[in-house]
Amino acid sequence: MLRTVVVVGSLLLGTSVVVAQQNVVAQTQTLMKNSGKSLGGVLGAMVKGDKPYDQAAVDGALSQLSDLAKKLPDQFPDSVKGIETDGDYSASPKIWTNRTEFNAQIASFTKAVSDATGKIKDLDSLKATLPTITKQCGNCHEGFRVKNL
Ligand code: HEC
Repeated sequence: MLRTVVVVGSLLLGTSVVVAQQNVVAQTQTLMKNSGKSLGGVLGAMVKGDKPYDQAAVDGALSQLSDLAKKLPDQFPDSVKGIETDGDYSASPKIWTNRTEFNAQIASFTKAVSDATGKIKDLDSLKATLPTITKQCGNCHEGFRVKNL
């Protein structure tokens, strides 16, 4: 009886660990998708002239990106290493073998977003500043994101 309880208990514990891992991965993907919307759907669309310049929308997008920057250091704990995702991309194993470089990418992205915050006041300053953020997304993806087969 006791043994059954222990086995069931550890099975439940195992399940909740897996659920927690999947939640972190799902949260990361949601954060990234929202960042894609902020960058392409809001800021990039204004630069292209598809949307009119809108200060409140710019500030909202920057604050979403700064939320990504704040959360990035906690989105890739050892427990989610090697987890397959349903999306188009997964985290590269290099995140865990080259943490120093990954953290450096987070730091450059965080700096690009914080430098831009409060600096974008009109379409010209948006056009001048956006590439520095976009470049940081790309740099990290190049080294640390892999396309699912
Ligand atoms: C420090 C590294 C890093 C930075 C900076 C970063 N990303 Fe990502 N991104 C990743 C990793 C790793 C993945 C794969 C994560 C996964 O699928 O679990 C990813 C995945 C994505 C995805 C695909 C999500 C999906 O559905 O699978 C999008 C879209 C994305 N990022 C957009 C952005 C945008 C836009 C920025 C910049 C504003 C950005 N990312 C900045 C590391 C980063």
